Amino acid sequence: MAKKGLFFVVCFFVVSLTNINGEYKTTKEAMNEIFSTFVSLLPYASNEMRFNDPNAEAYIKTKLLKLKTAFKNAKHLKKISTPGFQPSFEIVTNHLEQTYENFSTQNKSFARTRLKQTAEMCISCHTQLPKGVSSTFRQFHTIKRDQFYNDYEYADYLFLIRNYSSAIVQYEKEIKSRLAKNKALRAIQNSKNTYYLDFTIEKSLKRILTIYTKVFYNPQKALTYLERYQGNTDLPNNLKNTLTNWVVDLKRWKKDSFDGSLKNEKEFDNFVKKHLDESEVDGDSSDVDFLVAAGALYRYVNRAPKSEKVPEVLFWLGRIDNELEHSYFYSLSELYLKNCIKNYPKSKFARKCYQQYKEILEIGFTGTSGTHIPKDELEVLNKLKSYLK
Ligand code: HEC
Repeated sequence: MAKKGLFFVVCFFVVSLTNINGEYKTTKEAMNEIFSTFVSLLPYASNEMRFNDPNAEAYIKTKLLKLKTAFKNAKHLKKISTPGFQPSFEIVTNHLEQTYENFSTQNKSFARTRLKQTAEMCISCHTQLPKGVSSTFRQFHTIKRDQFYNDYEYADYLFLIRNYSSAIVQYEKEIKSRLAKNKALRAIQNSKNTYYLDFTIEKSLKRILTIYTKVFYNPQKALTYLERYQGNTDLPNNLKNTLTNWVVDLKRWKKDSFDGSLKNEKEFDNFVKKHLDESEVDGDSSDVDFLVAAGALYRYVNRAPKSEKVPEVLFWLGRIDNELEHSYFYSLSELYLKNCIKNYPKSKFARKCYQQYKEILEIGFTGTSGTHIPKDELEVLNKLKSYLK
């Protein structure tokens, strides 16, 4: 279980720095610094040789240090300490800590893999933000396509900075060029039924779906894009089936009375009952349902971070991320559940979060010879149990 590394308490190194002067006044200020550092690392992240070049070592190390420190210094910020953002913040901080550690100990390929994963984590926060890109970031215009390895990576960057319309253009470009490439390969090999493992086609479609379900709720817009690919004979069969299912689900949402926001507790309760609780019983919720629900829950909790519903929201976010696994974004499932237990021990949902956490752990460590949970994981589990009131 790859996720288990996240549980270990990361020892933070004490760094004394002269060029980084403490905390930031606004989230924007912090993000500005994080962004410029992140961007300066892009050419290295996308090119292994450049990343491993001994002449670049000092530079990369300084930037990695700056990136992780900038995140740590943003900790006090109001927006970032809301229940929706906090798990993302924790993940990124730990992740960057480990990236720096890998690089410093010459595990450069690990460090590079981690650095490339970082964008997914930035995205886990940004997809919760209500509006599109803020145009005040002038640096955005200095970033061009040639700084990225392929259209997909460029698209993900645009997605990260919330320039969703441009991101979609690039995702579609990626899909088109991959499909053309696969077609050419099939012709060369004269095998009509061969499909090449091409995860960026699927990922690109998933990103487009995410934009119009989780980030903005607009099932019709999602349909407009996705129906274009439905029935495309160049797509592998499993992806064709997935698309068909998405389309069916989106059409169902289009008819639903839900308009994208949950305005009060009553609407919240009705939504959970209709779209989450019942599906728990019959178990036929789809990715579309989960993405729509995640978006609605984030918007609710970010608008009312002190609401009594927070532990319940964390419980559902934990479940949803677990269901979607890592196939859309980096899964924060365990962190949501842990925060639910630690921060709301008196809530009846703390107990449900604990049960869910335990179940995930057990499934993760069950093999043909039974369930073998490692000692350190059991310790974490017991500690979590001790919080429950
Ligand atoms: C814990 C949540 C969180 C994480 C993780 C996060 N951000 Fe942000 N980011 C925010 C918030 C909140 C804003 C909006 C700030 C505002 O407008 O006041 C923002 C805004 C930005 C902006 C300004 C443009 C915009 O979209 O408004 C940039 C650029 C940015 N972040 C870069 C990054 C990068 C790069 C990463 C990953 C290395 C990252 N962020 C990770 C919360 C986060």
